[in-house]
Amino acid sequence: MSVREAAARAAVLRREIEQHNHAYYVLDAPTIPDAEYDRLFRELQDIEAAYPQLLSMDSPTQRVGGKPLPEFSPVRHVVPMLSIRTETDTEPTGARAFDARVRRELGLAEGDAAIEYAAELKFDGLAINLRYADGVLVQAATRGDGETGEDVTQNIRTVRRIPLRLAGAAPAVLEVRGEVFISRPDFERYNEKQRASGRPTLVNPRNGAAGSIRQLDPAMAAERPLSFYAYGLGETRGWDLPTTHAGVLDALTACGLPVCEHRAVVQGAEGLIAFHARMREARDSLPFDIDGVVYKVNSLALQQRLGFVTREPRWAVAHKYPAEEALTTVEAIELQIGRTGAITPVARLAPVFVGGVTVTNATLHNEGEARRKDVRIGDTVIVRRAGDVIPEVVSVVLDKRPMKADGEPLHAPFEMPATCPVCRSAVEKPEDEAIARCSGGLFCPAQRKRALLHFAGRRALDIEGLGDKLMEQLVDHAIVKTPADLYKLGLVKLANLERMAEKSAANILVAIEKSKRTTLARFIFALGIRNVGETTAKDLARHFGNLDALIAADLDRLQQVPDVGPVVAASILRFFAEPHNIEVIEQLRAAGVSWPEGEPVAAASSPLAGKTFVLTGTLPTLTRDEAKDMIEALGGKVAGSVSKKTDYVVAGAEAGSKLDKAQALGLSILDETQFRELVSS
Ligand code: IVH
Repeated sequence: MSVREAAARAAVLRREIEQHNHAYYVLDAPTIPDAEYDRLFRELQDIEAAYPQLLSMDSPTQRVGGKPLPEFSPVRHVVPMLSIRTETDTEPTGARAFDARVRRELGLAEGDAAIEYAAELKFDGLAINLRYADGVLVQAATRGDGETGEDVTQNIRTVRRIPLRLAGAAPAVLEVRGEVFISRPDFERYNEKQRASGRPTLVNPRNGAAGSIRQLDPAMAAERPLSFYAYGLGETRGWDLPTTHAGVLDALTACGLPVCEHRAVVQGAEGLIAFHARMREARDSLPFDIDGVVYKVNSLALQQRLGFVTREPRWAVAHKYPAEEALTTVEAIELQIGRTGAITPVARLAPVFVGGVTVTNATLHNEGEARRKDVRIGDTVIVRRAGDVIPEVVSVVLDKRPMKADGEPLHAPFEMPATCPVCRSAVEKPEDEAIARCSGGLFCPAQRKRALLHFAGRRALDIEGLGDKLMEQLVDHAIVKTPADLYKLGLVKLANLERMAEKSAANILVAIEKSKRTTLARFIFALGIRNVGETTAKDLARHFGNLDALIAADLDRLQQVPDVGPVVAASILRFFAEPHNIEVIEQLRAAGVSWPEGEPVAAASSPLAGKTFVLTGTLPTLTRDEAKDMIEALGGKVAGSVSKKTDYVVAGAEAGSKLDKAQALGLSILDETQFRELVSS
């Protein structure tokens, strides 16, 4: 190959790879198999290795190339990065006050037309300015003090969702502003992996994102699952500026940048209030944390007329949701023993209202965290609750710590005991791990309870009504020792338990009976194999098709499953090597627990493979979770909202705006019968 030919081929490969990246990371709709992508990537790497002169900054091979930096260089922002006024009144009046202020500033009278606003989410991560010169990402900087930030280009290049080159026309300068964050599922998955290999975990998504970007070693940043959403502009030159903010976001989308789809153009205060309420509903089901919404006057001309006061624009406001942080006091520090023996220190708190619920305890994660934050009994602490995650102690207000007369703290620092507080087995903590564990295994009643509750949980065998209190009694009275014992329960035994009415006992038996019909993925997840979460269980079920194939698999076969590495594979092997576990599985099968058996790795040939579904409304017989399971078992995906990328919308009774949108986009809409036909085809 001549240099000219190599250069031409490299250009083609780069364009193609960026397109696939965009489809995969931004649109969430992969366009080629992973193996084919890897082949293109390797071909490009080979060309660049043979012709180093062809290497360029925007090559997708250069995402993780940099060496660790001694420090970050300062970057002066051409257009200052402003902050945004926060409306602390979390009620509708907050939106009305903003609208009234804007109207007053513009000299509008009461009868004049409503102002048009662009409403979007307030992301909870780190603000970043991306500078594209002639369409190529040349610099990324943090906000810093708004005038000067830090050059974090190397780290930002590792974020797959951020294009290294813009799609379409290449303006001389286009600065894009937005937020780098870590989604909640990515955060959980990352921490699960870290825990499995005994490495430190991230404390929360926001700190995780900020800490990752402020890493001096880009190789470390590359391992963090960072996401990005664009929400505004910095300097632009040679770019056709749209006339509205919504138009800017559309234009950025067209450039290949990720823009959050939860946004709307609304009219007047009432429109803002409706958006605020709608997103508050959606908040807990979003895959990332938000602490409010942002309203911006849509017209850029009006924005200019409104201008700024001190570093805040008059045309924008952040409208928060009720605080997710609050002050309270620690009444005790107790130890919770998990399903796998992990011992978690938990702070019992004086009840406090945070983000819409009353919180009475908060996790301290592990001994290291408890000592690092130095949480003690009697301390006043800040607790935080984000979305549906477990509340946590953020920090201690040291000024308020109870002291003895001699000036020493009244209570000692937290210390992990040497034996399990429940079963007295030794507590073990490998040198390089953060988590201490009770070594009692299923001998420990606490572990047994957690394992059984996990088995019966909603995402596992889903036995409704089998909660904490009941399980406590079942285990304490030695009525249930293994999951198989659940299927031997009779009405008399159950109804004789404390506070158990005959009617609810009967209901539980019905729920137990119903749980016998399950899916392989749920069953694998229910077993509680260490390091096998819901996603891995689904991957295993899809890959092996039936349980016996999974049980028979060796280390190599296991590692052929996507995302299963040596640690997870070893856990699975260890689990099935235990005769007791096989025995319980046999007993469960004998009791009638069953699932449809599939063919190994059948997913690719299913008509659902790789297709994106949206479920809306109430289906006549299927619950949402059942429909979701069916789709995922056949290799499809379920998304939360309708877009051009949606392949099918499954609609039931009282389907709302999602159905309207699907019709407007001309998507395939199925009722339950048609959906079942597709599944069985
Ligand atoms: S616009 C001129 N839009 O909030 C307005 N900011 O105090 C500049 N943020 O540090 C910001 N979501 O990191 C804007 N949709 C959004 C945002 C957003 C989160 C953050 C941003 C900034 C802070 C503003």
